[in-house]
Amino acid sequence: MIRFVLCALALTLSGFVRAQSAGTPDAQAVSVPPATPFTAEMVEKGREQFHRTCAQCHGRNMVNSGTTVYDLRKFPTEQRDRFYTSVTNGKGNMPSFKGALEPGAIELLWSYVATRGGKEL
Ligand code: HEC
Repeated sequence: MIRFVLCALALTLSGFVRAQSAGTPDAQAVSVPPATPFTAEMVEKGREQFHRTCAQCHGRNMVNSGTTVYDLRKFPTEQRDRFYTSVTNGKGNMPSFKGALEPGAIELLWSYVATRGGKEL
C-alpha cells in the first residue's frame, strides 16, 4: 500500500515538474521594461543611436521610400512591444540586435521613433 502511495506521489510530482517547464518562456520571448516618459535628452540620444545602427537601412532621419525597408515614420506609436520584439529578434531582412545594443538603447530608439524624430515630443 505504502509503495503504491509513494509511486502515485512520484508520478504526480513528475507531471507537475513537466507542466512547470512547459510554461517557461522560449528564447524568442522579449522582456519589455516598463514605459518611461520621453525627454528631449532621450530623443537626442535615440537620434544618435539611430544614425549609428539603423540609418544605413532605414535612411537618414528615417526618410526612405518604404518599398523594401519599413518606413519607421509610420510605425504605430502604440505598438511599443512590437518595436522591442522586432529590434531584438530581427524581422525578415532585418538582423537581430540582441546583445548588440547597450541596455536601455532600445528605449532611446523608441523615444526617437515614437515621437516622430522629436516632432511629437
Ligand atoms: C540591414 C538593414 C537594417 C538595419 C541595419 C535595421 N533595419 Fe529595421 N528593418 C529592415 C527591414 C528590411 C525591415 C522590414 C522587415 C520585414 O517586415 O520583413 C525592417 C523593419 C523594421 C521595423 C518594423 C518591424 C515590424 O514589426 O514590422 C522596425 C521597428 C525596425 N526595423 C527598427 C529598426 C531599428 C530601431 C534599427 C536599428 C537598431 C534597425 N531597424 C536596423 C532593415 C534594417
